[in-house]
Amino acid sequence: MKILFIGDIYGSLGREMIKEKLPKIKEKYKPHFIIANGENICHGKGINEKYYKFLLEQGVNVITLGNHTWDNRSVFDFIDDTDKLIRPANFPDSNPGKGLTFVKFNAYEVAVISIQGRTFMPMSNCPFEKVDKLIEEAKKRTNIIFVDFHAEATSEKVAMGYFLDGRASAVVGTHTHVPTADERVLAKGTAYITDVGMTGPLDGVIGVERENVINKFITGLPIRFNALEQGAAQLNAVLVDINEKTGKATAIERINLKKESAF
Ligand SMILES: [Fe+2]
Repeated sequence: MKILFIGDIYGSLGREMIKEKLPKIKEKYKPHFIIANGENICHGKGINEKYYKFLLEQGVNVITLGNHTWDNRSVFDFIDDTDKLIRPANFPDSNPGKGLTFVKFNAYEVAVISIQGRTFMPMSNCPFEKVDKLIEEAKKRTNIIFVDFHAEATSEKVAMGYFLDGRASAVVGTHTHVPTADERVLAKGTAYITDVGMTGPLDGVIGVERENVINKFITGLPIRFNALEQGAAQLNAVLVDINEKTGKATAIERINLKKESAF
């Protein structure tokens, strides 16, 4: 089976790119299952029910989150009522929502895990310990296990890839918003990429109006960050081919599109 994973969808330009490009991606690559990171879909910060439903309408099967999970407080009203929206599993257990979900695909189930890094990131429980337990839990039901590791440091992500090699079908990195070119299938059959990249504005600083960020670096003063809502846009994703019986990945391909890209 082919699973499409779409990198962090950011603000109005991210939503526009989904509307415009996802139907064409579906036509060309024919994915059987679509996962998207939606933690920046509301002006860069969090998700609400309207945009959660928008992603489902566009054909997304599961939405993952990250450090912006709770930024839009309306998420508290619906995250416990759905199996299609998950937050990092290594948040405190008392938090609403969950970090592992199972969604049907024909005769199979796809397990999706959201986990967050700790290096240069807000405090959370150990992602390695937590994911270890969740993989064991998922294995009781399915071999198809897809992990979104939302983390800043490349070293932590590479380590997670090797830690789960042969146990997860795919480990894909999110959060930095910059796609990396290191996609490959690891020795024991786990598809891996350090960062998928983001879906949204191209000419800001990882989504934010560039002047805000440059001024912040120069002055060190508290400056409001506004999501860039116009101009050039990008869509970054990966397509992972998985043997649905064994759960092993056979291929991973990057899809990096600009607004003006031909299809
Ligand atoms: Fe993030």
